Amino acid sequence: AQATTGADDRPLAQRIAAEGRPHLLSVAQFDRDSLEALFQVADVMQPIARRQKVTRVLEGAVLGSLFFEASTRTRVSFGAAFCRLGGTVCDTTGFTFSSMAKGESIYDTSRVMSGYVDALVVRHPEQGSVAEFARATNIPVINAGDGPGEHPSQAILDLYTIQREFSRMGKLVDGTHVAMVGDLKYGRTVHSLIRLLSLYRGLKFTLIAPPSLEMPAYLLDLVARNGHVIEQTQSLEEGLRGADVVYATRIQKERFAGEEIEGYTPEFQIRKALVDTLCKPDTILMHPLPRDGRPGANDLSIDLNHDPRLAIFRQTDNGIPVRMALFAVLMGVEHQVARSMRDA
Ligand code: CP
Repeated sequence: AQATTGADDRPLAQRIAAEGRPHLLSVAQFDRDSLEALFQVADVMQPIARRQKVTRVLEGAVLGSLFFEASTRTRVSFGAAFCRLGGTVCDTTGFTFSSMAKGESIYDTSRVMSGYVDALVVRHPEQGSVAEFARATNIPVINAGDGPGEHPSQAILDLYTIQREFSRMGKLVDGTHVAMVGDLKYGRTVHSLIRLLSLYRGLKFTLIAPPSLEMPAYLLDLVARNGHVIEQTQSLEEGLRGADVVYATRIQKERFAGEEIEGYTPEFQIRKALVDTLCKPDTILMHPLPRDGRPGANDLSIDLNHDPRLAIFRQTDNGIPVRMALFAVLMGVEHQVARSMRDA
């Protein structure tokens, strides 16, 4: 772990609480110390995530997994993480198969689920909706993506991945150059990630997007206030050169009117020829996934699949220990994990 700034002896769940409760709604709940403390819990989870060790610290606990938008990795990895800790999962996916289709409110849904399960993971298309679930219950609620708002667990696993990759190379997050490419307006993962990265010192961000899909101004202000350098460009050639991390995103077509896509062409696609010309031998290539695998796609080319700089599947693998750590912390069992572990 890299240097942290001070000690706080309270349980981690209290240090990161949202309105005094053990929810995870936004990365704004973290400071650098609490983030590093969470990463240490995730490190403990690594052998359990790989099934070299087992623990049953959440035996008897039930997770409610409510996904009202499409998902593969967030839904399944949260479920797998809970199971790896000994718990079980009950889920509902899409509005069609939930009583919200009959007009039930978020408040009622959340109150009802609180009587059935011990924690909730929620993805919903409206910004702020997961916070509404959280206000209606005392059980931990985790934001798994609220429309164009935030996706905190994704950003946490992204930063955890950056730290692990850098640690292998003897590099620090402080002072690094991060290029973010694509739909920076609606891409909730970059909204959460840039906030987390801004907890570190002296970063340079190059933000590569067409004018219609630029990073929201309130995030640019926040990052600048924290003393980081921000350059905005529409040129991959300018933005990628010298970057330590390239973070590509998919255009969130589901979130905007057709005209905003104007100016967004395959020119923005990260391809092997560009990476070989502009990036360094140790640049990390990241993407929250899913990437668009269809012809004419414009996020991250499959011709990079065998390039060792491509960290996308290391990111997805890290989703399990990070989400296990979040459950353990929010449910107050993080200190029981190490002593409960046994060989698989
Ligand atoms: N990264 C991410 O949120 O992927 P899913 O939409 O598949 O959950």
